[in-house]
Amino acid sequence: MKYKDSIAFPEDFFWAAATAAYQFEGAHLEDGKSLSIVDKNINPNYADTSVTSNHYHKFKEDVALMKELGMKAYRFSISWPRVLPNGRGEVNKKGVNFYKRLVNELRENGIEPLVTIYHFDLPVCLQEEYGGWSSRKIIDDFAYFCKVLFEQLGEEVKYWFTINEQSNMFLLPYLMEFNKELPLEKQKYEMNHIMTLAHAKAIHLCREMIPNAKIGPAIGLSPNYPETCRPEDVQAAREADDFRTYLFTDLYMYGKYRDNVWRYMEENGVTPTIEEGDMELLQSAKPDFLGINYYQSRVVKFAPETMENKDMSINMNGKKGETEFEVVPGIYQGSSNPYVEKTDWDWEIDAIGLRTLLNELNDRYQIPIIITENGIGAVDMLTEDEKVHDQYRIDYLKIHLEQCRLAIGDGVQLFGYCPWSYMDLLSTTSGFRKRYGFVYVNRTDDDIKDLRRIKKDSFYWYQEVIHSNGQKL
Ligand code: BG6
Repeated sequence: MKYKDSIAFPEDFFWAAATAAYQFEGAHLEDGKSLSIVDKNINPNYADTSVTSNHYHKFKEDVALMKELGMKAYRFSISWPRVLPNGRGEVNKKGVNFYKRLVNELRENGIEPLVTIYHFDLPVCLQEEYGGWSSRKIIDDFAYFCKVLFEQLGEEVKYWFTINEQSNMFLLPYLMEFNKELPLEKQKYEMNHIMTLAHAKAIHLCREMIPNAKIGPAIGLSPNYPETCRPEDVQAAREADDFRTYLFTDLYMYGKYRDNVWRYMEENGVTPTIEEGDMELLQSAKPDFLGINYYQSRVVKFAPETMENKDMSINMNGKKGETEFEVVPGIYQGSSNPYVEKTDWDWEIDAIGLRTLLNELNDRYQIPIIITENGIGAVDMLTEDEKVHDQYRIDYLKIHLEQCRLAIGDGVQLFGYCPWSYMDLLSTTSGFRKRYGFVYVNRTDDDIKDLRRIKKDSFYWYQEVIHSNGQKL
């Protein structure tokens, strides 16, 4: 059902945009910063993290452009090894100062800072010392990192995201380092449990230290559709949602493992180690909101037991048709959706899926939601007269925003929208070939050029959207 113009975005809606430290800042070894696991493991076929968009040195110019765009809020992440080069212990003053100056600059320009504490960039030293997220030791180190941030930035920052895309770190092994000697699936469930404990501790700490702040996770989610109305496929889609969405959201919201996922783990010998007090901790840390990263929906069908288990492969080259689907034998396997367009990287463009997902989450949890990422990765062309005509980006964002408006009409408590990304940055999988921003950064993977900022057509479109509070899409 569609609503007419009676449904509008709330007056105080956070019209925002997002970035992440390792993709945007550059300066990967400057002013005392040490390396993170993404600095080390980023796809070697593309640019590395040493310069990226050089935001570390150009943040004032970048905030001035945010102001010109009319942004009400800005989501960015903090680099753990910039603040704590040893992962814990001595605080790197220069690193903290960078974030203090950024937050001040935002505040002076009337832009609300929305801070992600962890966006994939674990200090290498912690990975080497005890295996990073595979060890419970990280829970205290993460809590210490959070404590430093709440102390240093808590007066100015009132919105915090604990962990970005725990769901995808779990699904896509390249975002984490796993021990090749040990069974992968078991490690994934262990790490997921440990990460959720760290998230829960961060929530408690935030409430103690900055009681007037709000905190929640930012989760990457895609709703699953059945390939056909064959009952087996419908059940497969339900279970795909249980394994890929509700496993995480139920843990965050109720501190509880879903029964069917738990039984699967038991039957396959991959249950995480639960220590005394774990479940109580999880149950006591309900977030204030859910942050949702949404790019696409997925289609699944039943997978017979005889199939081989397979992780999803990622299309890194931007040539259509290269993605291989995930298979979970006896449960579900991925398939393609013939009813929607796909990006060059095979991501299925489905704006209605966003409304579906928002409604599902609202029905289950009745909690405020913010879209922490949504956007289209594409090869943008800079014309000779220095323009970027990215109508495809405008089309993508427009249809998703229209579905957000409809979801608000359905009763979803949506309080903000952060397109990915504010400015061009290093795509995690595909470097600078795959761009997302409203602002073009003049560089390629091989040539840093002058890193000039150039406003794309989508910049002017989003400016109008914000100016009209979403009336003019
Ligand atoms: C999200 C991540 O998964 O998707 C971002 O939070 C990432 O860090 C974005 O950049 C888009 O993915 P990619 O691989 O196209 O850069």
